Amino acid sequence: MKAIVFHEHGGLEQLQYTDIPKPELLATECMVRVRAVALNGFDPMILQQIPGLKTPLPMIPGGDVAGEIVEIGSDVGADKWAVGQSVLIDPMMHEKGGVLGETVTGGACEYISVPEQNLIAIPDGVSFEDAAALPIAYGTAHRMMLHRGRVSAGDKVLVLGASGGVGSCCIQLAKMVGAEVAACTSSKEKAEKLKALGADHVIDTSSENYVAFIRDLWGKPRVFAESGGADVIVNYNGGDSWTECFRALKREGRLLTCGATNGYDPKTDIRYIWSFEFEILGSNGWNRSDLESLLDLVKDGKIRPALHSVRPLEELPTSLGELIDRKIVGKAILVP
Ligand SMILES: NC(=O)c1ccc[n+]([C@@H]2O[C@H](COP(=O)([O-])OP(=O)(O)OC[C@H]3O[C@@H](n4cnc5c(N)ncnc54)[C@H](OP(=O)(O)O)[C@@H]3O)[C@@H](O)[C@H]2O)c1
Repeated sequence: MKAIVFHEHGGLEQLQYTDIPKPELLATECMVRVRAVALNGFDPMILQQIPGLKTPLPMIPGGDVAGEIVEIGSDVGADKWAVGQSVLIDPMMHEKGGVLGETVTGGACEYISVPEQNLIAIPDGVSFEDAAALPIAYGTAHRMMLHRGRVSAGDKVLVLGASGGVGSCCIQLAKMVGAEVAACTSSKEKAEKLKALGADHVIDTSSENYVAFIRDLWGKPRVFAESGGADVIVNYNGGDSWTECFRALKREGRLLTCGATNGYDPKTDIRYIWSFEFEILGSNGWNRSDLESLLDLVKDGKIRPALHSVRPLEELPTSLGELIDRKIVGKAILVP
């Protein structure tokens, strides 16, 4: 079968579009013909190598996979799954030792064999491309915004780095529940696309200071009054923005994080945390119920995955290059 493979960590030049043997079907697994695979913010990091994370080599990237069942293992209940059924793969593979595309060989290939408990039926009316956009980024956003962050109607929500996979979903979920959303991004073009995705306010951080913008828009946060600033800030950028965003968060505001794109050990300022009584809430991954809810939301037209591009599988290096260069709004999809 055709696959994108890398044998060593490094840059895009390590990626090869090549022929490899089709995977073996284990008795407890189903073989899925991959119809769409999505990239994530972690794909460039894994290609380059994340310190402390053991990636199996050779590695196939791609953690978000949708496709159709072509073969069913002998121990899989025949009443559960059928050949030809459309399925989304939950990338959290506990039996295989981690997340697909991260510590488990991924789905940028024609066929993948996965444990049957990782399969989720795709409802009628949801395309393979839309389904593949969901698990890692949208699943994480779903848990972070609705479960951990309790974002609800009337909340004023600021999303930093909003053009990515997680960010494009945070905007849509916040709007869906009736929040007011301000979205930060690093270019004018991307700001226009975020407006089209539903953001009420967009801030192009290449020319505007987002703290000043929020203080003008929602007022300066006050220690002795529950007024001014955002109720919720979503900050998986980390780095310098970590302490900087404290100045835009309301008293008793919630600061949500699921990552640290620009640095995991930034300086902090504890005075803000106690005097403004911030709630700092971490969120990690998703549950199967997050993915099932997202598929229903897409089916019902309540959210629409932001697809930046849909390209043939062999063009994965081009899409990954765009991700590295921050040229993407939403998700990059590859089709074998
Ligand atoms: N804990 C979990 O389970 C989990 C799951 C998924 C993702 N994450 C984390 O969440 C974060 C976002 O993931 P994602 O998949 O949405 O990534 P993504 O699609 O690459 O989006 C990240 C966004 O962050 C902004 N950004 C700021 N500084 C950047 C930099 N130096 N390089 C690249 N982008 C930068 C960019 O937006 P602008 O150009 O608009 O500023 C970019 O679109 C990552 O840190 C990822 O590791 C965690």
